[in-house]
Amino acid sequence: MSKIVVKGGNKLHGEVNISTAKNSVLPIIAACILSEDKCVIEKVPMLEDVFVISDILRSISADINIDKDTNKVIIDTSNIKDCNPCSELVKKMRASFLIMGPMIARFGKFRLCLPGGCNIGTRPIDLHLKGLSALGAEVNVGHGYVEASAKKLIGDKIYLDFPSVGATENIMMASVMAEGETIIENAAEEPEIRDLAKFLNSMGANIIGAGSGTIRILGVKSLKGSTHRPIFDRIESGTFMVAAAITRSKIKINGANEEYLKPIIAKLTEVGVHISSQGSSLIVDGRDELRPVDIKTMPYPGFPTDMQSQMTGLLCTVMGTSIITETIFENRFMHVAEMKRMGANIKIDGRSAVIEGVKKLTGAEVKATDLRAGASLILCGLVAEGETEIADIYHVDRGYVDIEKKLKALGADIERVNE
Ligand code: EPZ
Repeated sequence: MSKIVVKGGNKLHGEVNISTAKNSVLPIIAACILSEDKCVIEKVPMLEDVFVISDILRSISADINIDKDTNKVIIDTSNIKDCNPCSELVKKMRASFLIMGPMIARFGKFRLCLPGGCNIGTRPIDLHLKGLSALGAEVNVGHGYVEASAKKLIGDKIYLDFPSVGATENIMMASVMAEGETIIENAAEEPEIRDLAKFLNSMGANIIGAGSGTIRILGVKSLKGSTHRPIFDRIESGTFMVAAAITRSKIKINGANEEYLKPIIAKLTEVGVHISSQGSSLIVDGRDELRPVDIKTMPYPGFPTDMQSQMTGLLCTVMGTSIITETIFENRFMHVAEMKRMGANIKIDGRSAVIEGVKKLTGAEVKATDLRAGASLILCGLVAEGETEIADIYHVDRGYVDIEKKLKALGADIERVNE
């Protein structure tokens, strides 16, 4: 197990390069199940979650070659035999469920163990299963497993009660070879949905409207292999933007164009951070007086829930009262108790955190409870007086490539310590 140790107080300077989006790469790797031809995914971030979903596909005889030098992943699913992937691996990561759609589309069946609950909420899959049933699959949940089978999938109109990212992705992948047209209404609009549709269309699918609330999929006979370079990670970008703001520094973020960052840029600008774009880079300047703000997490294009804990950390250092309301997940304030150990003044009131800025945070021994919470504690450590130790850093490694190396290159006093 490793931890990260940060000595607070350093200003940041220089440039950081943003990796490719984890939440694009995971559904795209799952989508490779849809074709018997080889697929090549480029610039893949070498993340734990990428290794887990690759091992899940390997557990059903897919051949996956991850080249850590070129960051290319070559995926050949022609030899997939059974549709019952390894439960231990599936339980490790909720995104494992992204293989349901491709499996039912190509093989007409799957059997998956249900996800373990995750730290930020119960993470149900009812909307995923509602969509698969609407396409004609027979779905059974019991004894800790979900099984589905379908002789034929027939397109249908599906209205999502909530614009679930995963459910939108699963239904899109399940319907690409269904008979007729499928319409997903109240679909998630996250950029990663548009990126997945771009990959599927490059394989021969016929998808229109991805990235909007209504997606139309016209079923095709089969899909062919393709090569794809997924989009940049907008949440990693936002995390480094907050790193500049919380340390009152100015840095350059490469590979992060503002197209997908508008809600984050808008909110940080409201706080008083100056953000300008230079081609595919952003200049982020947090050196002016920062102001308290109110934030409500919403589905895209609202403020992303994956940036909530990072903003909570920043607003702990901004004098005045800020209120953050988390509307997406029911338990995504676990970082608050850890931040209070560092001297933060936060009160939880239902789905909201009421933050009173403090003059300084103090270093402490804290624990990452989930991916983004861990990242937010590192950000707090950058500015806390003294030394902060963040344990259980494996959570952070699921979604950030070499976060301590990137921060160290920007001037932070930060080390990874293997216990
Ligand atoms: C994706 O998770 C992301 N993960 C999450 O990122 C992100 O926080 C989330 O979307 C919201 O943007 C990946 O893309 C791999 P949802 P997902 O289905 O698809 C409820 C990170 O830090 N819901 O949009 O699981 C659910 O309970 C991770 O990178 C149902 O009720 O999110 C939640 O309250 C964390 N029934 C809300 O919808 C369902 O069938 C949002 O979930 C599905 C979801």
